[in-house]
Amino acid sequence: MFDVDISKGYVDMPVPEGVDLVAEIEKMKREKNAVVLAHYYQSGDIQDIADYVGDSLALAQWAAKTDASILVLCGVHFMGETAKIICPDKKVLIPDLNAGCSLADSCPADAFAEFVKQHPGYKVISYVNTSAAVKAHTDVVVTSSNAKQIVESFPADEKLIFGPDKNLGNYINGVTGRHMLLWDGACHVHSQFSLEKIVALKKQYPDALLLAHPECKRDILLVADKVGSTAALLRFATQSDCKRFIVATESGILHEMKKNNPDKEFIPAPPDDSTCGCSECNFMRLNTMKKLYNTLKYELPEIVVDEAIAREAIKPIRRMLDISASLGI
Ligand code: 13P
Ligand code: SF4
Repeated sequence: MFDVDISKGYVDMPVPEGVDLVAEIEKMKREKNAVVLAHYYQSGDIQDIADYVGDSLALAQWAAKTDASILVLCGVHFMGETAKIICPDKKVLIPDLNAGCSLADSCPADAFAEFVKQHPGYKVISYVNTSAAVKAHTDVVVTSSNAKQIVESFPADEKLIFGPDKNLGNYINGVTGRHMLLWDGACHVHSQFSLEKIVALKKQYPDALLLAHPECKRDILLVADKVGSTAALLRFATQSDCKRFIVATESGILHEMKKNNPDKEFIPAPPDDSTCGCSECNFMRLNTMKKLYNTLKYELPEIVVDEAIAREAIKPIRRMLDISASLGI
């Protein structure tokens, strides 16, 4: 539609001086019948302008039911791919195609296919944080919101492979008593939280509860007061009588936590010294209001999924959505 250079992975066009980004984005959404779906790890301004803000399961569920013509996925690439696979006839845009995921990258499709081939008779469960090509080698997709229930939906003696997150896989093995074979992958944000620094924070704030995403390492999960998906942690913080929380997940979630609970205090869990010192996902934060504006304006960059891969990948995604719906998740 537009002849625009996206060789950098995003539309690198200047925004005209004096433009009110919020007003223009709202206007384009209306004119183009577009919706913005944002993950909790996006910056606060993007969450505020989104039509839907949620965890990765909710984003997939919203994609499945929207009648908008254009979906702008403010999240990372695998979330855009999942939305495109669910809605092949819609235009699915992402503000920056470089928004990848270290966890998805820790599981190359060829190597995963070989691993699956070496274990005949195993059913394959893949976390949604995977490429479409990995999903194409999968029996059922899960997110951190439904992994336990979906694993438990298999007979107790079923042989299972779980990939790619070893921390989530270990956690689910622990809570279900299963012995799934685990792929050796991890997220660079969640695996960097420092137990030592969290224990020091707990000493400083003895009343604070520790909330942790199951992608965190086992030592963190063992001392957590609540382990859950971003949506589950948000719900827990809102329903709890406690007034102070240490939050061991990407710090973007603090925006919605504070918004829903202005009387409570949320402290981001500190990472170890090998990181930038914050708990932001550098991939998630590639999306900005300016890129979102240009994405809507030029309808680029678009998420494209190979048709043959999409035909296979839709099956385990559908299974996840159907099982979740039947369980009321
Ligand atoms: P949620 O499933 O909780 O949204 O987590 C997604 C993710 O990328 C975690 O790092
Ligand atoms: Fe991937 Fe980790 Fe970023 Fe989530 S926080 S998108 S798992 S790199």
